[in-house]
Amino acid sequence: MRSFLVAGNWKMNLGGKDAINVIDKIEDGIKVLNENVNVMVAPPFTAIPLLSDRIKRIELGAQNMFYEEAGAFTGEISPKFLLDFNVKYVILGHSERRKYFKEDDDIIVRKAKKAKDLGFKYIVCVGETLEERDKGLAKEVVKRQVSYILDADLVNEYLIFAYEPVWAIGTGKVATPEIAEEMHFFIRDMLKGKEIMIIYGGSVDENNVKGLFEMPDIDGALVGGASLKPEKFLKIIKTAESLL
Ligand code: PGA
Repeated sequence: MRSFLVAGNWKMNLGGKDAINVIDKIEDGIKVLNENVNVMVAPPFTAIPLLSDRIKRIELGAQNMFYEEAGAFTGEISPKFLLDFNVKYVILGHSERRKYFKEDDDIIVRKAKKAKDLGFKYIVCVGETLEERDKGLAKEVVKRQVSYILDADLVNEYLIFAYEPVWAIGTGKVATPEIAEEMHFFIRDMLKGKEIMIIYGGSVDENNVKGLFEMPDIDGALVGGASLKPEKFLKIIKTAESLL
């Protein structure tokens, strides 16, 4: 039996009281939800306490966390704080973290180890830039990023990979189902039979999601822009349900 994860990454949007209205609308739309579809929303940290008592079928995620639990780390968020607010997922190594905040594979592995120790489901993002794809290096880059996680003994049922080609994120230029499937199959092959979810991210919306979800190795989506609009996000969830 297939199952899907539909995950919303709100990025630096809806971080205050406006988050409540959006989460309520999504909850309203999934009063009846197929048990094989999991819905996660990762709002900004400031919205997490506002939402943690309101969610019913949605599970909360964090867009990042630090690898230490406490101490003199100005501006960082301890994973322990997240546990207090019912956060079940963390997104690690998003390409925007890699690019703007210089997170490298070593940092991502440290975070993933902590997430594993504390029992979070951890979504590790991998994906090549346009330049890397144009040079024929897409698989090499993804292989390196995935290998860091596999070599660090971080595979368990809580690990999820998100294949997010950087050229598709926020550009409106979604990968074709065939291009995405090729890379998902490549990652699946590296996992040597271990049952790990691999979700796709990069300009997923209500119009292109069906073709992606029809692919055998695409287990869900990490949705940025379209997750800010309840009607769009709900259509993506319904598409997953329609395929089960
Ligand atoms: P997008 O973002 O859907 O807006 O392209 C996806 C992501 O960054 O996870």
